[in-house]
Amino acid sequence: MTLRQRTHWFALHGVIRELASYGAKRGEMQGRLIADLTVRADPGGFADELRALGPLVRGRAAWLTTDHALAHQLLRSDEFSVTSLGSTLPRPLGWVERKTVVKGRLHPLLPPSLLSVEPPEHTRYRKTVSSVFTTRAVAALRVRVQDAAAALIDDVSADPSETVDIVDRYCSQLPVTVIGDILGVPDADRSRILEFGELAAPSLDIGLPFEQYLRVERGLDGFNEWLANHIGRLRSAPGDDLMSQLIAASEDGTRLNDEELRATAGLVLAAGFETTVNLLGSGIRILLDHPDQLAMLLDDPDLWPGAVEEILRLESPVQLSARVARDDTEVAGRTVKGGELVILYLAGANRDPAVFADPHRFDVTRENAGKHLSFSGGRHFCLGAALARAEGEVGLRTFFERYPNAALAGAGSRRETRVLRGWSSLPIALGQARTAVRS
Ligand code: HEM
Repeated sequence: MTLRQRTHWFALHGVIRELASYGAKRGEMQGRLIADLTVRADPGGFADELRALGPLVRGRAAWLTTDHALAHQLLRSDEFSVTSLGSTLPRPLGWVERKTVVKGRLHPLLPPSLLSVEPPEHTRYRKTVSSVFTTRAVAALRVRVQDAAAALIDDVSADPSETVDIVDRYCSQLPVTVIGDILGVPDADRSRILEFGELAAPSLDIGLPFEQYLRVERGLDGFNEWLANHIGRLRSAPGDDLMSQLIAASEDGTRLNDEELRATAGLVLAAGFETTVNLLGSGIRILLDHPDQLAMLLDDPDLWPGAVEEILRLESPVQLSARVARDDTEVAGRTVKGGELVILYLAGANRDPAVFADPHRFDVTRENAGKHLSFSGGRHFCLGAALARAEGEVGLRTFFERYPNAALAGAGSRRETRVLRGWSSLPIALGQARTAVRS
């Protein structure tokens, strides 16, 4: 541990952490979102409390909204832009943060990450990735998702009496296998990038404890180093994969420099496995908690696409995003000043009773479940949404058709992350296996 790390952590997380726990104890909503463990246990209850205070609530350092129409509008508004880590800190802390940040280290919430840039850079990066991740290319991936799920489910267990941690054995493996396959990652490297991902996942959160901050730095550094080598290997020996195509696309037309290419490719890869694992884990858990809904799906597999939307709605794997006002602007009858942050609590917008009737109820036949905001909206709409949906559908269906009698064998544990929501372990008694039916 160095003085630089201590100082950087203090400016970026330490002060916020203290203020958030102080605020949370006094019931302040932004403080609670960061520091109150009951929010993670019951995001729906917290969303209701927040909603009762109005469509736009003033927190200690940012505005908050759970209003579906407002979140939808702000995600698409040109008066708001994405923000980057540390950019909205109060002036002296921001200064210290900038002086102590490691220059050149790639981070999902720092430029040139797609998540932290706006046009013209965003347009240039996004155009390059979209030229490779075309709708046709993604549609063709469904077969690869099916093959990967079938192979993985065969490996989950040979023994039906066994209890397995399904997150470790299946939910985390499917996304990394699929995105790794798409992006030319050697099989032998998968467990390493999963480890980096696990360490770096809290990089989207603020108010981290110091030890966790150090683990995030280790994960980001390890991932960055691995990625630079991976791109180098594919540059000298391109393969039949989308990463090789992305490298080629970055070298002509729209042009990405080396750092931009690494940031873009790294985000696609990391977003590809760090989010979908949560959709699968939460999906298995919520279906085991609602056997009547699971029975409907096993009876009528055409319901799976709608069920995945409903899982995304109720268990949003990305709980929130944020946008910053470019100038003073009127929002829901309040003045949001230029430079102020609005936290879009997507998990709350997904339970807005103005859009979703009986919003806390899990209903795989809900007609408008797909109106959720779990993939964000506007320019930054999730690039991998179609792939994530395919993995959710195929992954969950494959699991439950093979193990229709699966049952929870313990409480499991939730991931510690705030922005990302999912299970870090979920013990399952598999029960007798059935031969899988192909989707
Ligand atoms: C259930 C799974 C997933 C969820 C819930 C999810 C959610 C999101 C959300 C909420 C954003 C936008 C954040 C914002 O507006 O601030 C986003 C952006 C993004 N996602 Fe996903 N994602 C998922 C899977 C994937 C997959 C599988 C990939 C890769 C193939 C991917 C790649 C990306 C990329 C590259 C962006 C940045 C887009 C931009 O800023 O233009 N995501 N995702």
